[in-house]
Amino acid sequence: MSCCGSSTPFAPVVDAYGRRFTYLRVSVTDVCNLRCVYCMPEEGVAWLPKDEILSYEEIRTVVEAAAATGVYKVRITGGEPLARKQIDVLTGMLARVPGIDDLAMTTNGILLAQHARALREAGLKRVNVSLDTLNPERFARIARRGDVKDVLAGLAAAQVAGFDPVKLNMVVLGGVNDDEVEAFAALTLERAIEVRFIEYMPLQEAKGCALGSGSFGFVSNATTKERIARRFGDLEALEVGEGMRGPAEVWRLPRAAGRLGFISAMSAPFCARCDRLRLTATGEIRSCLLDGGGVDAKRILRGGARARI
Ligand code: 5AD
Ligand code: SF4
Repeated sequence: MSCCGSSTPFAPVVDAYGRRFTYLRVSVTDVCNLRCVYCMPEEGVAWLPKDEILSYEEIRTVVEAAAATGVYKVRITGGEPLARKQIDVLTGMLARVPGIDDLAMTTNGILLAQHARALREAGLKRVNVSLDTLNPERFARIARRGDVKDVLAGLAAAQVAGFDPVKLNMVVLGGVNDDEVEAFAALTLERAIEVRFIEYMPLQEAKGCALGSGSFGFVSNATTKERIARRFGDLEALEVGEGMRGPAEVWRLPRAAGRLGFISAMSAPFCARCDRLRLTATGEIRSCLLDGGGVDAKRILRGGARARI
């Protein structure tokens, strides 16, 4: 029984800062088919042993428990979620968990064209595709593997499959891709997608993952927005300030079909409004990526023993 009139069977999860969690991000694998410069080293990444990764049944159990406390939004992430076998099966399992009414995925898009339809049919509603450049040579330098053509095909397939909305995430890296922000914004003129500009967060630099120390600079979203407005004219505010519904400010180019999102984690941190819990691929539940603490759900699930996978 909840003490606050909520209709969920257990009390909501509220942390020491009074934040109530309604959104769970589920990392289903550490494996990725790309090696983005800001995320992983180019060679020699050792993937986790399979028995350290939660099984689909274990993930479902955690999501059921989270739903019982009031979580209703789930996002499937990685690594690259489409790199895990039969991800449409897990998608269907999570879509059927009572109380989960908003199921989304973040993917690098490389394998999306071949999975889009099955994922939609399994109950996935929304998809975010990560893409930092439209230029093939640059893609090779930033993502180090894969082909930008496959990502663009994945994006198109996502729209055809009926995901709504389809979002495109671009991490803006000074001196690397910041000259493409206008081209990314222009994608929204004809297409009903949301292109989101994400300020680079130097999370992995300490692990030697950058292009080389200091080789890309920070570009604030204020700069990116000014640059876009200079080219296209004044942007129309859709969800700004009090009207924001998530971490992104949302604007629109004049007469555009789609929208522009600005996620400013560095210049305007939104920690106080953050409503996300995270389940890591190895089964830890955390409230923040930057905070070391977490709950070892895997140990609880497996009762201290190794589970059969
Ligand atoms: N800074 C900003 N965004 C990042 N992403 C991954 N690493 C970083 C970083 N250091 C982005 C990915 C993806 C989303 C899940 O987070 O490109 O779009
Ligand atoms: Fe990291 Fe995502 Fe790039 Fe893969 S696609 S290397 S998980 S940022």
